[in-house]
Amino acid sequence: MSTTTSANRFENKIVFVTGAAKGIGRATAIAFAREGARLALADFDDKANSETADFIRKEGGEAITLHVDVTSENEVRSAVNETMAEFGRLDVAFNNVGRIQKPTPLAESTLDEWRIIMESNALGVFLGMKYEIPALLKSGGGAIVNTSSGAGLRGRKGFALYTAAKHAVAGLTRAASLDYARQGIRVNAVAPGPVDTELAHVVTGGSQDGIAAMEVTQPIGRLGQPEEIASAVLWLASPEAGYTLGTVLPVDGGRTAG
Ligand SMILES: NC(=O)c1ccc[n+]([C@@H]2O[C@H](COP(=O)([O-])OP(=O)(O)OC[C@H]3O[C@@H](n4cnc5c(N)ncnc54)[C@H](O)[C@@H]3O)[C@@H](O)[C@H]2O)c1
Repeated sequence: MSTTTSANRFENKIVFVTGAAKGIGRATAIAFAREGARLALADFDDKANSETADFIRKEGGEAITLHVDVTSENEVRSAVNETMAEFGRLDVAFNNVGRIQKPTPLAESTLDEWRIIMESNALGVFLGMKYEIPALLKSGGGAIVNTSSGAGLRGRKGFALYTAAKHAVAGLTRAASLDYARQGIRVNAVAPGPVDTELAHVVTGGSQDGIAAMEVTQPIGRLGQPEEIASAVLWLASPEAGYTLGTVLPVDGGRTAG
């Protein structure tokens, strides 16, 4: 599904996106670029990240790529610094990296898995905001959007570690929004339901049967497309959402409505 728009809400805005190489991050980076933003694309998959940048440039947009493991404080700090050095300011940050666990009852999960899931989801968002906020303040304010999940709003059977990590993202979002509400920074999160990306295939197995089994559990009867999450992120980051902060917005085909 492609979403085209004639709006130019982000003309010349500088937007930093983590997890920009694939899935929701890539679709969101492209959507920002189509509305006039200049992009700093952060990911640890350099090859796929370059493909996102090439796609944006072919459409006439501007993008730089940054090699970042969001669990490394040095790499996150350098990436934000490089963005400021290249563009001179920062207006929007989308802290989107996340990894899902293999479905497992809690007692069968390992400490290593806990560290990987907590660090890629929650530590990444903490470090992102820690270095983006001073850059946003220097730029006169802006917006942060983090990626939580339906598992950040509800418990999910077989996904205790991912549920804990995405609740942490929701908590960081709400508390940070209060810390900076008076300083012109709005912090919000999206909470996607199942979206058709590589990550979702860890759950569905990627097979037609696995996808169909997931679709049956969805009130809307289908998975979401990355572009449908992107449009919510752009709204949260736009001036139209000027009175919206500390929200964890479900974009999930009705999954958390019942
Ligand atoms: N797809 C879904 O069904 C779904 C549902 C709810 C929430 N989410 C969340 O949406 C976000 C994006 O997921 P997606 O479906 O696009 O996943 P994806 O696997 O398609 O893309 C994730 C991207 O993050 C990058 N990445 C992973 N770990 C990294 C790290 N430590 N440092 C830097 N880059 C790293 C990967 O290289 C990849 O480009 C995640 O936070 C995920 O938890 C996804």
